[in-house]
Amino acid sequence: MASLKASEEGLRNVDRARKRKGWNKYDRAWSDLAATSVPTLKRFWRGIPIQAETFQAICDVVGVDDWEKIVEWGDNDDREPGTSKPYQVDWDGAPDVSAFYGRNTELTHLKNWILDNESRLVAISGMGGIGKTALTIALAKSIQERFETIIYRSLKQFTSLTELLCDLLQVCAGEDAPDELASLEIGLARLIRQLSNNRCLLILDDLEAILRGGELIGSYRPDCQDYEFLFKRLADAPHKSCLVAIGREQPKDLKVLQARGFKVESLSLSGLDIETAKQIFQLSDGFAEAAQLQKLIELYQGNPLTLNFVWWKIQNLFAGNLSEFLSSATLNFDDINQLLEEHFDRLSDLERQIVCCLASAPEPLSLNELREKIGASGMTDAIDSTIRRGIVKKTMGDPRYTLDRIVKMYVNQQAARASTRN
Ligand SMILES: Nc1ncnc2c1ncn2[C@@H]1O[C@H](COP(=O)(O)OP(=O)(O)OP(=O)(O)O)[C@@H](O)[C@H]1O
Ligand SMILES: [Mg+2]
Repeated sequence: MASLKASEEGLRNVDRARKRKGWNKYDRAWSDLAATSVPTLKRFWRGIPIQAETFQAICDVVGVDDWEKIVEWGDNDDREPGTSKPYQVDWDGAPDVSAFYGRNTELTHLKNWILDNESRLVAISGMGGIGKTALTIALAKSIQERFETIIYRSLKQFTSLTELLCDLLQVCAGEDAPDELASLEIGLARLIRQLSNNRCLLILDDLEAILRGGELIGSYRPDCQDYEFLFKRLADAPHKSCLVAIGREQPKDLKVLQARGFKVESLSLSGLDIETAKQIFQLSDGFAEAAQLQKLIELYQGNPLTLNFVWWKIQNLFAGNLSEFLSSATLNFDDINQLLEEHFDRLSDLERQIVCCLASAPEPLSLNELREKIGASGMTDAIDSTIRRGIVKKTMGDPRYTLDRIVKMYVNQQAARASTRN
């Protein structure tokens, strides 16, 4: 029986038709009318191949007549039905990254780890908005032909590991997937079996969702401790797939697995370079304010999300005048403060003290100077944690610690607000 899968553009059309009907995506009324089941409707939405008749019925009953336009046809065919690509891709909830630039060095490392070294687990970490998700999706799109299945999931979507495992098994095992798992061990064993039989690129995003805030970086939330077994099994069990784990924070045990010699790699993502920023802002090579652009990128640590906010501001409130913007006093605004706040809310008390101390110091401080000012135990671990969060920067050579200018401004602003309130 021929099978068909929907294209991203096709799904957008179906989504419009569904809204006109007032149905939700997994509406029982819809699956009943199409003589199918809700799980099949889910597979349709995930762009997984389903039987051609069912595909047509799902389109018909929602009011899409030209179902052929919904299909993602194979790359090399003449739009013949039933010849969908040999791999299945399930991007549930992944953002659109149609405009992606640069990052060639990172892509080369990642491809080398995943394709040549057959790493089983690759961790990508970095500040919010730095481009972790965009990079990983661009990577996955560039190597998808080398896998049988590509799955993207954000851990924000799941309330437990068993829920995640059921969902992953639905994609990998299809009709044979269980609705419920008898135990976590059984679920993990089934997943590993699937990952051994099929080469799967599994992307789990937003790892911080399973980690604890208010403590040093990397401990699991009490209700998410069992994720430790998932990562350990994926790193040490023999299989031919790869997990890319993305997060502002990473669990501590991934470092341990790497140190123990498992096929685990990690990439700490920093900002974009000036050439890539020029592409994002669609600036010509002869752009007159190149030196100012360099300053702007350094100031915002090449963070594409913050640079996009700032660029909008420069165009709309400063008539495109970069120098004027850079000499203004308002370099931090709501969007940027909100992003920094998300990071600061997760600091432990000691990390917070360190950051406040560095924000009020005119020069970078050494560990001893920080110890003298704060006088608490556990300073080395706490500084290490703030560095791994990307908040504190360590200078080369005889190490000293400091904050980027924007972070300093944010911390001092918060301190000033707090003192006005008191
Ligand atoms: N190389 C790039 N080229 C073009 N746009 C990019 C690039 N990298 C990131 N962006 C854009 O910057 C924004 C932030 O990127 P992204 O969502 O990947 O960040 P993130 O690190 O995953 O953040 P978070 O921790 O909040 O999930 C997005 O709009 C994304 O499309
Ligand atoms: Mg992201």
